[in-house]
Amino acid sequence: MLTQNVALGSRSYDVLIGHNILDQLVGVLKNLNAEQRSVTIITEDTVANLYLEKIKSLLESTDYQVNILILPAGESTKSLENYERCMHFCLQHNVERNHALIALGGGVIGDLTGFVAATLRRGCRFIQVPTTLLAQVDSSVGGKTAINCQYGKNLIGAFYQPSAVLIDVNFLGTLSKRVYRSGYAEVIKYGLLGDKEFFNYLAQNNDLFLNQDIEFLIKIIAHCVEMKANIVSRDETEKGERALLNLGHTFAHAYEAETGYSDTLHHGEAVALGMLNAAQFSSFQGHLNTNIVDNIENVLFAAGFNLNIIYYISDLNIDNILKHMMQDKKVSNYRLSLILLKDIGHSFIQPDSCIKELREFFTLNN
Ligand code: NAD
Ligand code: GLY
Repeated sequence: MLTQNVALGSRSYDVLIGHNILDQLVGVLKNLNAEQRSVTIITEDTVANLYLEKIKSLLESTDYQVNILILPAGESTKSLENYERCMHFCLQHNVERNHALIALGGGVIGDLTGFVAATLRRGCRFIQVPTTLLAQVDSSVGGKTAINCQYGKNLIGAFYQPSAVLIDVNFLGTLSKRVYRSGYAEVIKYGLLGDKEFFNYLAQNNDLFLNQDIEFLIKIIAHCVEMKANIVSRDETEKGERALLNLGHTFAHAYEAETGYSDTLHHGEAVALGMLNAAQFSSFQGHLNTNIVDNIENVLFAAGFNLNIIYYISDLNIDNILKHMMQDKKVSNYRLSLILLKDIGHSFIQPDSCIKELREFFTLNN
């Protein structure tokens, strides 16, 4: 088992990474509070069907009393309605500040449970047990918690760190190919934004990704978590460098908004499209060589991503896309920041991206 610390002073915590390490959960809970014998799991139906019984037995056999809330699976679960449902469930079960909530699921459950933990009695503890590749390499680490609303994605939320993260690659064995691949977009993102050697390693080992090789998965997850832990330690609340982790996301969130956050387009698929757009727009503005754009496209394509936006949105409306992009959290004084590339592994923040040029770019590319 590997351990990566996220160094944030009194809010520091460990991320445990390994294969078949679920039983470490008991030790993690005892470390947090040796006296506490009550724990609350928030999960969703797909994950519950596969893993809940095992986790519940593990906790009950070590004398924990377990409260369980099972929500529907899917992005629409990150809603105000479900937030209210979680809060009322926790209050009804007398969850105290130093009780631990366990977020058992992908990014949807992690983001929602984290936001519940951030606001329940002004903050209670929570442990992330991420069950998708996306959640293991990205969303479970770093303390971004949020829900969606009619105005857009992740617009209601808080920076609130978990007390521990337990990453067991065993969970990945039951993911659909599509969901597994979606998570890989975030893995490729780390190479693109800041580590060319890692990007080349991924490009050369696509077969290990496709075959879900356990050693490979542990290695790449640990690498992404290490990169993220370092960035978050330096810039927890995204005043600067952390924004680089949003490479491709401004485009991605616009596509997701346009498809109604539905199953039509998964977050990771949108990120793959968005990263390619960021590379293409970087090239359009003269920052990036076109053969590097081709290289990025080839790596995403080899991983199995469909990179034609028309496949997901048959009647792309550029005005709508630009409108969604202007809802981005990085917009300040009506100015849009974009994360662009000078090379693979060399990303930068362009603070005042020109909407007129973006319109031209979309018109040329669609
Ligand atoms: P998700 O949680 O919806 O999971 C995707 C699908 O996989 C769901 O259908 C789920 O039921 C299923 N699933 C989960 N674990 C499984 C398992 N082990 N076996 C079989 N099926 C399983 O989505 P996601 O892709 O994990 O996360 C996307 C969310 O994460 C988005 O809401 C996005 O905004 C958020 N996100 C947050 C951050 C952050 O820093 N907080 C970063 C990236 C993404
Ligand atoms: N997923 C982007 C971040 O955590 O900052």
